[in-house]
Amino acid sequence: MAAQLTDSENAVIAAATPRYSRCKIEIGPRLSPAGGVAITGIDLSRPLPTAIRDRNAAFHTHHIVVFPQQVLTREQQFAFGAQFGSVEPAAGRGHGSKRYGVAHIISNLDQDGKPVDRSALPLSNYHWHTDKPYYRVPPMMTALYAVELPPAGGDTEFANTAMAYAALDGDTRRRIDGLRVVFYLGASAAGSACPSDAESRAAVAHPLVRTHPETGVKALYLGNHASHILGQPLAEGRALLKRLLAHATRPEFRYLHRWRVGDLVIWDNRCLLHRAVANFNLNQHRRILHRTVVRGTVPV
Ligand code: SIN
Repeated sequence: MAAQLTDSENAVIAAATPRYSRCKIEIGPRLSPAGGVAITGIDLSRPLPTAIRDRNAAFHTHHIVVFPQQVLTREQQFAFGAQFGSVEPAAGRGHGSKRYGVAHIISNLDQDGKPVDRSALPLSNYHWHTDKPYYRVPPMMTALYAVELPPAGGDTEFANTAMAYAALDGDTRRRIDGLRVVFYLGASAAGSACPSDAESRAAVAHPLVRTHPETGVKALYLGNHASHILGQPLAEGRALLKRLLAHATRPEFRYLHRWRVGDLVIWDNRCLLHRAVANFNLNQHRRILHRTVVRGTVPV
């Protein structure tokens, strides 16, 4: 059943969003057991009506919120994100550049604008990860906006790490509660290299089982950029992380988002992993999205 807003809430929203004044804002049914919900009838280029901002509940309940049919400049996307908290500056350069401060371009294009398949590179977004876990204060939310897509495929897949934690047996939970994961940019538990001195200096350690600051629910915190377990031999910690990642990304914990141009999707990095899916010809078709991330809190 679609959870609909009340008529008075819709009236408030319609007044604030004239472009959608004849649409009803609707919060749809859950998109998968692992999460996801679509909210339709809202124009995100305008400030969020209070009735929706208060519906952070949708974000906390469903973890992934899809807003279809948006038309957003990068500045408007930044303004949207800023309503949820402090937007991470993307090491800003000029307006047309990939790293324009207000929204980063995620694409498979090379410097000449030609599509190229870099999905196998260790730092690519095609590996399971949570955004920027190598920050001392990692982001809580990411907003990704679809600008140009391949004719088919180019999906983003999510894995619910709170469901994965809850599904672990008691012995494993007791064994991993209290462990800390060492993260640094480019680390991978699947790789075997030791961190260099520079990487060790830049590394941060976060709880392997983190507690969501809003809901109190425990979730695994791992993925690409996770190197090893603090205080354990590298090989032992890496083997544990690899096993837990395989568990956390089991099909029943996943939601696959099939993009349409104009979708803006927000997700909760504190209880989800995600990855782009290389299910199209990356050397032939363009895939362009705009990304903003909103700062969270130190994981506990
Ligand atoms: C990301 O990793 O933040 C982007 C995922 C994607 O390209 O689908």
